[in-house]
Amino acid sequence: MADTYDVVIIGGGPGGYNCAIRAGQLGLKAALIEKRETLGGTCLNVGCIPSKALLHASELFAAAQKDFADLGIEVGKVSLDLEKMMSKKSEAVKGLTQGVAFLMKKNKIDHIHGAGSIKAAGEVLVFLPDGTQQTLKTRNIVIATGSEPSALPGIEVDEQRIVTNTGALALSSVPKKLVLIGAGVIGLELGCVWSRLGAEVTVVEYLDRILPGADAEVAKEAQRILRKQGLTFKLSTKVTSVEKLKTKLKLNLEPAKGGKPETLDADIVVVAVGRRPYTDGLGLENIGGQTDPRGVIQTQNGQFQVTDGVWAIGDCIAGPMLAHKAEDDGAAVAEIIAGKAGHVDWGLIPSVVYTLPEIAWVGRTEDQLKNEGIPYKKGKFPFQANSRARTNHQTDGFVKILADAKTDRVLGAHLIGVGVGEMIGELCVAMEFGAASEDIARTSHAHPTLSEAIRQAAMGVEGWTMQM
Ligand code: FAD
Ligand code: NAI
Repeated sequence: MADTYDVVIIGGGPGGYNCAIRAGQLGLKAALIEKRETLGGTCLNVGCIPSKALLHASELFAAAQKDFADLGIEVGKVSLDLEKMMSKKSEAVKGLTQGVAFLMKKNKIDHIHGAGSIKAAGEVLVFLPDGTQQTLKTRNIVIATGSEPSALPGIEVDEQRIVTNTGALALSSVPKKLVLIGAGVIGLELGCVWSRLGAEVTVVEYLDRILPGADAEVAKEAQRILRKQGLTFKLSTKVTSVEKLKTKLKLNLEPAKGGKPETLDADIVVVAVGRRPYTDGLGLENIGGQTDPRGVIQTQNGQFQVTDGVWAIGDCIAGPMLAHKAEDDGAAVAEIIAGKAGHVDWGLIPSVVYTLPEIAWVGRTEDQLKNEGIPYKKGKFPFQANSRARTNHQTDGFVKILADAKTDRVLGAHLIGVGVGEMIGELCVAMEFGAASEDIARTSHAHPTLSEAIRQAAMGVEGWTMQM
């Protein structure tokens, strides 16, 4: 007899496991199918968590070498134990993936280890690791299969010398020369990790700017700061091939618009040119599911429904490819299936790049507002004028707030500075509540804190910044 579920979720990343938890809380009988040995998806296994573990450890390593003495702290010669650093990273990953498995038990979710494939609406086949198959009957199917790194034609990833994020988060030694293809979020975060640990890092980017999703002014400031930290950027440049020589890799480069080719040597090449939805073996065709040319699963109602009784969430559908977006999608779909309302405003999903200083934003950029023809006013405040930033000797960056010129409603916030990844939450709450810049400007912020820069920037929208 086949099991019958209210919902079967395919994929155990932040989208899938949060959907399962919410389904369990709402009293739905749910199963979660994951083909990896551990739950948590890209985020916990080879993404957010291991990268942040290495960013944190490498940040302390660099501070001990470069900043401590200036603050009057003498530590002598600082040395690196990469194996230990990697094992602490693995410890964080293990603890968190086990935590997700615990949450499945707590919420009475059947966790099935295997690859799920849709046979028809209401029927999922699971290929189990022992070679057998299991059929699950269900009223609803949620596709949460996530994404995989986009490939570059002619460049073969081996995860040893030419790597994606997976290999780049597990190198056994610090390469002398590391080249990243792509100055997006992965390129900057992993570039910082290996540069801080001693590698000579070059980032090759096709466009004439870094971080294409970020506000242009913020991206420019980020590039200036990261260059000062030792990263080399080669913009408007494309990699045409990578030759694997015995002792090194040779990258063949060309100006993006065509022109004189050049070469670049590397010990490790990281391909970080974006991610694409993962739907291999999913059986999407069996329910008439469609993908766009980029592989994005098409949904009917502008958000999650693929067809009757089939839903999709997270990285495999439209919207930002971020863990907290996938999580919100998952909870919303569980609520819809349970007969409640469920919606996520993808326009208010914050982005954070965990470099030093951090980069964070929510809502529209100046370029987007200009392209959409929306008149706006802006307030900007530099951390150089913030007392806490000065106390900490960490004064790089600024806060910029964009508000509707007529209504004063906040339309976008763009921050670069130490700790802004935590500070962006205040602006998300404000924007979810439809705040005007004046609401933020008239809200008390503790002194001395970095968040006072947000208030001063909000004051600046109406031209009454006080501390500058
Ligand atoms: P995934 O996490 O990709 O999970 C999908 C799961 O489905 C996978 O475990 C896969 O094995 C499984 N699966 C696929 N097909 C099947 C099948 N047929 N049967 C069974 N299982 C299947 N986001 C942030 O918000 N913050 C960050 O700091 C951040 N850092 C990142 C760093 C790196 C290096 C990378 C690569 C990504 C990072 N991300 C970050 C993005 C984040 O990891 C993703 O947005 C998030 O994991 C998407 O969640 P998801 O559930 O949609 O998919
Ligand atoms: P990305 O989309 O952020 O950046 C890719 C970069 O590669 C872009 O700048 C693009 O112009 C460039 N590029 C594309 N083709 C190229 C080519 N042929 N040659 C040179 N450059 C090329 O993608 P990335 O960095 O791979 O990350 C994927 C996604 O993972 C992110 O978009 C984000 O959703 C998620 N992520 C989130 C993190 C966070 O939230 N802190 C951290 C890391 C990843």
